[in-house]
This record gives sequence, structure tokens and C-alpha cells, in this order.
Amino acid sequence: MSTRNIKVSTKNESYNVIIGLNMISELGDEIKKLGLPGKAFIVIDKALFPDPAREIQESLEKNNYETKLLNIEIDESKKNIDTVNVIYEWLESSKMERSDFIISVGGGVTGDLVGFVASTWVRGVNLIHVPSTLIAMVDSSIGGKTGYNTKNGKNLVGAFYQPKLVFQDINFLKTLPEREISAGWAELLKHSLIYDKKLFDHFYQNHTDIKNLNNLNSIEAISKSVEIKAKIVSEDINEKDQKRILLNYGHTTGHALESITNYKKFLHGEAVSLGMMVAGNISFLMGLLSYDNLQMQKNILEKYFLPTSISEELNINTIIDLTKNDKKSKSGKINWILLEDIGKPVIRNDVPEEIIIRSLKSIFV
Ligand SMILES: NC(=O)c1ccc[n+]([C@@H]2O[C@H](COP(=O)([O-])OP(=O)(O)OC[C@H]3O[C@@H](n4cnc5c(N)ncnc54)[C@H](O)[C@@H]3O)[C@@H](O)[C@H]2O)c1
Ligand SMILES: [Zn+2]
Repeated sequence: MSTRNIKVSTKNESYNVIIGLNMISELGDEIKKLGLPGKAFIVIDKALFPDPAREIQESLEKNNYETKLLNIEIDESKKNIDTVNVIYEWLESSKMERSDFIISVGGGVTGDLVGFVASTWVRGVNLIHVPSTLIAMVDSSIGGKTGYNTKNGKNLVGAFYQPKLVFQDINFLKTLPEREISAGWAELLKHSLIYDKKLFDHFYQNHTDIKNLNNLNSIEAISKSVEIKAKIVSEDINEKDQKRILLNYGHTTGHALESITNYKKFLHGEAVSLGMMVAGNISFLMGLLSYDNLQMQKNILEKYFLPTSISEELNINTIIDLTKNDKKSKSGKINWILLEDIGKPVIRNDVPEEIIIRSLKSIFV
């Protein structure tokens, strides 16, 4: 089956994102083509051990790369300096040199941690991302943001560090738990809602095929979404202008919902789905988005098994306070990413509090 190749170009460097199905055995060939010297240091999420870890090693060894492998147990609570140290110590004891390279295999947590390690180990070594979750494929592996959490702050320590290659085999997604995969679709649907009506229609019409993860329709859906992220980070690599801010659609409320529930109730994508419903409602109440389009957004989220309402009542005043503290809001004024149409976003900082309250209430049933 065909693969897609998408280029990410930053000011100083560029790299390819290769997307396909059942092509992990070609990873070594692609790295060879880049001409990377040295040994391969593979850091892999334990969930992917022993398969496909073994296939990755074989693919590299076939290309005469010596490999070393470290598997680590991963979840958000492990995204900290202790895990960074575990990796540093392993690199030290296995005598990694500046001419060697690191391959990160896993979800967003693995990619962010290992990317950070690669950016700092001997002041930077070559890095390859092999993302294994939807979030990692369409979001965290592209754009070079790396980092880890401090005791109370998410992603407070980090660096921008671009990989030499991002290699995405959709087959990896088949072992992801159902809930993780649904939550992942939220970010892809978000891309279509803010940037691409045609992609939205593709997600809508071919949802059964896309969710099956074994055909051209799924490759198309994921690679279009990668293309959007790649284009945005290529134009605006340091998060300075508005284009990248648009990716925050659904996140203002989403982050607040995650925070008020101590990151325990919702997966990120679930919170973003609810956040998109709030932003959609605000858009409707501000007279920007039609009711039909708001319903379309609700329908598509439900087709991908994402929540559009919750039964538990959460404190609306606390949610509003949390949105004001969001790092993307300026001096307490919330920059709301809203929709005028599907694929047509707009940023507004003049949403009346009464509309925010009504929209928040609309997700509680
Ligand atoms: N750098 C960025 O630009 C960026 C963007 C978005 C998100 N992020 C970060 O990404 C993280 C979330 O990413 P995530 O959802 O991928 O989390 P994750 O890495 O924790 O993966 C989710 C779960 O799935 C498991 N897993 C991973 N791949 C699997 C597979 N193929 N089969 C079975 N299980 C598998 C993991 O062990 C984990 O339990 C957050 O820390 C977030 O801050 C970073
Ligand atoms: Zn997100």
C-alpha cells in the first residue's frame, strides 16, 4: 500500500514525515538513506515490547546499524526528570557518542521525553521519531516541542528540537486501547474543523473505514492531518503568530476541564472534544456559526466515540477562572478560537461572560 511523504521545513532545517501501513521493516532503509552514522539507541514504550521493538531492531541491523534498546514504562506521571535521568544514565553506561543517534518509539510522552534527552545529551544528537499513538502522529512528533513536567507544572521544562525523520506506521495504532484511539481522533477532527472542510467531509463520510485503520482512507485521514500540522509549524516554528494559536481550538475549556478534575477523569482528547462543543456553542451564540454546522460538529465527534456532554456538574466559576489562567490567554482576557464555518476559524477576545456561562452549561446534561 502506498506511503505518503510530507516535508516539514523550519528556518534552519527540514525533515520528512513518512506515513504508511505495515512498513516498519523499512525504517532502517530510510535512516540509511539519510546517511546517519553511528549506532542506534532506541528508547521504546514498554507497551511496544517485544513487538514491534524486535522488528525495528531487525530493520536497523539489516542496514548494518548496531542497536541498543531501552524499554520504559510510560504514562503521564512518568513524564518527569526521574525518567529523563534513567535515560541519561542508560546512554552514559552504554557509551553513547555524539555521532550516534536516538530513536524514540512511543506516544507523546515518550516522544517529548526522549526528544528532550536528544536535545541535551552531549548538547544534541540526531533524533528519529517513531510515534505510536494518534496524538503523537499528528501532533507531538511534528514541530520539535520536547519537554517534561515539573511537580506542579505541565511541560514547563523543554526545548525546541527537530528530528531528522518522523516515521509513522499506522499499524502500530491497532494495539492502542479503544479509549486512547477515540481521544486521539479529537485532535484530527480539530484540524479539519479549523482548517479544512474537505478533510472534515472525508472524516464524516468515511468514518467506518477510517476507524478500521487498514486502508487508504485511514492513511489519507492521518496524512492530511499531519500535513496541516506540518504546514503550521513550518510557517511558525516558535509559536509566535496566530496560525499556531488556532490549534488551540477546544483547548481553552479542555485544559480547564482536565485541571478541575485533576487530570483523572478525561483523556486529553475527551476534554478537547467537550471544549470544542463549548467553543462551537459560543460561536453559535455569537451569531458566527450556524446551528446546522454546530450539529455537524456534534455528530462527527459522536461518530468517533467522543463525548459531547457530561452528566456530572462541575463548578462553572472555577472553570472560568481556570480558562483565564490558561497560558495562552493574555492579561486575563481569553482569546477564544471560534468558528465562522467549518474550516473557517476566528479569534475573539470579546465574548460576553454570559455567553461563556451558557455555553459551558450546554455540555452538562
Ligand atoms: N510536543 C508536542 O507538540 C505535543 C503535542 C501534543 C501532546 N503532547 C504531549 O503528548 C502526551 C500525550 O500523548 P499520548 O496520548 O500519545 O500519551 P502516551 O505517550 O502516554 O500514550 C498513551 C498510552 O498509550 C500507550 N501506548 C502508546 N503506544 C501504544 C500502542 N501502539 N499500543 C498500545 N499502547 C500504546 C502508552 O503506554 C500510554 O499508556 C502529553 O504528555 C502531551 O503533553 C506534546
Ligand atoms: Zn491537544
